[in-house]
Amino acid sequence: MIPAEGMDEKEVLAELEERLKDDLSFDSGKILGSMCTYPHPLALKIVMRYIDRNLGDPGLHAGSRKIEEEAVNMLANLLSLERGYGNIVSGGTEANILAVRAFRNLAGVENPELILPESAHFSFLKASDLLGVKLVWAELNDDYTVNVRDVEAKITDNTIGIVGIAGTTGLGVVDDIPALSDLAIDYGLPLHVDAAFGGFVIPFARALGYEVPDFDFRLRGVKSITIDPHKMGMAPIPAGGIIFREKRFVEAINVLAPYLAGGQVWQATITGTRPGANALAVWALLKHLGFEGYKEIVREKMELARWFAGELKKIPGIYLIREPVLNIVSFGSEKLEELEEALKARGWGISAHRGYIRIVVMPHVKREHLEEFLRDLGEIAKRL
Ligand SMILES: Cc1ncc(COP(=O)(O)O)c(C=O)c1O
Repeated sequence: MIPAEGMDEKEVLAELEERLKDDLSFDSGKILGSMCTYPHPLALKIVMRYIDRNLGDPGLHAGSRKIEEEAVNMLANLLSLERGYGNIVSGGTEANILAVRAFRNLAGVENPELILPESAHFSFLKASDLLGVKLVWAELNDDYTVNVRDVEAKITDNTIGIVGIAGTTGLGVVDDIPALSDLAIDYGLPLHVDAAFGGFVIPFARALGYEVPDFDFRLRGVKSITIDPHKMGMAPIPAGGIIFREKRFVEAINVLAPYLAGGQVWQATITGTRPGANALAVWALLKHLGFEGYKEIVREKMELARWFAGELKKIPGIYLIREPVLNIVSFGSEKLEELEEALKARGWGISAHRGYIRIVVMPHVKREHLEEFLRDLGEIAKRL
């Protein structure tokens, strides 16, 4: 209940500190199953300084709007496109919803259908519900990539677009985006690539010599990409990214905001009032870390993920679901539920889903954390 008399600031902070003891923190090293991480220190400074900037009213914050545009363009460049259109949004969910919305509006069919892999993120369920678009699920191959033949078999006159995933939520698998792109071109359909996680990993992993297929705007069929700075980009939550190849996709979802203090503008995001500071942080981190800075982070985490996968294989009763493609390692056990419960009881921030436990080797995850986890896992697996 709201107190009649306001509490002292110190008291409020002390109560919060006490109450938040139930939260896991990233620096504890216990959060191994999240795609988020502690933001980069530069991002913290920017959020502190520019917390009041509102990109929902860009007439007031014209400087911030320009910086957002530049951030979108830098992300487009990272994804092999010279000039991109889109926004820094609240996350991968909003980005995916916006792509489906643009495809639906441009297709103009009565009973819209979207074809997507069975491995797709649940944000598409929200998109389907909100937008009245039927989801048509395509089967997976044995290696957990989408079966392109099945995608083709499911194309109908109602299809508004195809989704491919570059870094699946569960396993970090990258679909055969070149084949999906060819298919999309053959059928005159737009292809959306959900690289919410992979967008800030794959370009650097490829530069490091890892074999990951093409996944970006280099492929002509790709019309939009989700790329989340608040995952491997180390930006503060919320910071997602939606990049479109052409302006017409943005125009298809633009809504006129007529009464703003800064004057009339078009908004292509779901949210109205939205944090400028986070977009500024994305811009600043891209400038500060540069390609080489991100490459170094990805190098370390890809190597750690491979080492961890090798160690997991040595534990009796534990098996890898598949060799890691990115910095995500997922493993199973005959006694998965008991294993999950025992690991959680020891304070590990993990969860089992679709028959496996997923470890995301994020920037806050260090080798000593994984060593401790492996010790716990070995002990628990022996007892089960
Ligand atoms: C592939 C993929 N797409 C979309 C999302 C949704 O992102 P957010 O939680 O930022 O909305 C996730 C989140 O894990 C994801 O892994």
